Amino acid sequence: MGRSLTDREIRETADKYSTHHYEHYPLVLDTGRGCWITNEETGQRYLDMIAGYSAVIFGRSGKYYSRLLDALNRQAKKLTLVTGSYYTAPYAQLCEKLTHFCNMDTVLMMNTGAEAVETALKIAKRYAYLTKGISENSAEIISCENNFHGRTQGVLSLSSNDFYRKHFGPFLPGCKSVPFDDFDKLLRAVNRNTAAFIVEPIQGEGGINIPFPNYLKKVENLCKENDILFILDEIQTGFGRTGTMFAHQEYGVKPDIMTVGKAISGGILPISAVLGRNEVMRVLDPGSHGSTFGGNPLACAVACEVIDILIEDSSFVGRARKIGEYFLSELQKIKSPAIKEVRGRGFLIGVELNSPFNADLYRDGLLKEGIMCGIAHERTLRFSPPLIITKREIDWALPKISKVLQETG
Ligand SMILES: Cc1ncc(COP(=O)(O)O)c(C=O)c1O
Repeated sequence: MGRSLTDREIRETADKYSTHHYEHYPLVLDTGRGCWITNEETGQRYLDMIAGYSAVIFGRSGKYYSRLLDALNRQAKKLTLVTGSYYTAPYAQLCEKLTHFCNMDTVLMMNTGAEAVETALKIAKRYAYLTKGISENSAEIISCENNFHGRTQGVLSLSSNDFYRKHFGPFLPGCKSVPFDDFDKLLRAVNRNTAAFIVEPIQGEGGINIPFPNYLKKVENLCKENDILFILDEIQTGFGRTGTMFAHQEYGVKPDIMTVGKAISGGILPISAVLGRNEVMRVLDPGSHGSTFGGNPLACAVACEVIDILIEDSSFVGRARKIGEYFLSELQKIKSPAIKEVRGRGFLIGVELNSPFNADLYRDGLLKEGIMCGIAHERTLRFSPPLIITKREIDWALPKISKVLQETG
C-alpha cells in the first residue's frame, strides 16, 4: 500500500473536517494511468469518463501527459509565483500563443472558470459604460436559462437554477435570462442598456444541449447590430472536447469575448483566461483588475505545452470527433425504457433519462462496473472522457453501459 490511511479513515477524516458541499461517493481514488484511475486498497480500476469535468484531456500518463509534467517540473525548479506587476517569459509566451491559437487580440489570465466569467462580465460592463454611454449602474447582462458558468456570487446571478441559488441571495441586479437556443426571446430581451449576451456554444452542465445550427450566427449578428458584446463561454467545450478546437467554430461565428479554462492546462493546474478584441479588453487599466495567481509562470508554462501539443498533433481533435461519433452512435443503439434521448458532440455526450428514472442509481451502477461518469442537470448521465480514450476502451465500456441502462430501475 502506498498510503498510511485506509479508505475508511480517508473518508471519515475528509467528512469530519471539510464542508459537505459535494455528495461524495464512498470511493477513494489514488493513482491515474491513461484513462484509468485505481483505488489502492481494493486494486479496482475505473475507466474515467468524466476527466475532471472535461479538463483532463491528455489522461494521466502517456507521451502528452509526460510533456506536461516535464514542463511543470522545469518551470517549478526555476520560478513559480511572482506578482502580476512583473514580466515573466512563460506569461509572455502564453499570451502570444493563446491569442493566436484562439484567433483573438488580447488575453487576461485568471485561475478558475468562474473567475474568467466574472472577469468577462466586468469587462463587458466597463466597455458598455465607456463606449455606449449607458448611465452608471444600469448595464444589463443577458444569459441563458439552464446555463452553467460557475458558482461565485456574480456568476450565480446569471443562473436560473434555484437549487444552486437557494439562500445565497441577494444577487447582482441587471441580470436577465432567456431560453437557450431561442433567438426570438433574445431579440425581445435586448434594450439600450444591454452590455452583453453570454452563452455556452453547447450547454454542458445544463444537460448537453446543442443549439440549432443557425442560432449562434443569428445571435452574433444581433449583437453586432446593437453593439452588444457576444460572449462565448468555452470553458467546458474548448480545446477539442466537441470535435473542433472550439465548439463555436462549428457554427462559423466569432465572439467578442471568449472564456476558456479547464483543459487549458490539461487539467494539471487551475488556469483560465478571457480573450477578446483589443478595443474591448483594453478598457481595463492598471488597478481595475488583478489576481494573485492569475498568469503565474508555472501554470503558464504548462498551458504553453498544451497548446504546442495541440498544434503539433493536428489529428488529435479529429480523432476525438471520430471516436466520439462512434461512441454516440453506439449509445444511441441501446434500447431501454429509461432512456429519453442520447445526444452530444465529440466527447461531450449525454444520456438523458426519462422521469422518474433516477440518474444517481445508474451512475452508481456504472461505478460498480468500473466506469466513472457524471450527471448533468439532474437526469442526464454525462460522458466526457479524456480525449486520448481509445476505441478499444470505449468498446470495453459499451456493453457495461448497455447492461446498466437496461437493468437498473
Ligand atoms: C461552461 C462553464 N463555465 C464555467 C465553469 C466554471 O468553471 P470552474 O469550476 O473552473 O469555476 C464551468 C464548470 O463546469 C463550465 O462548464
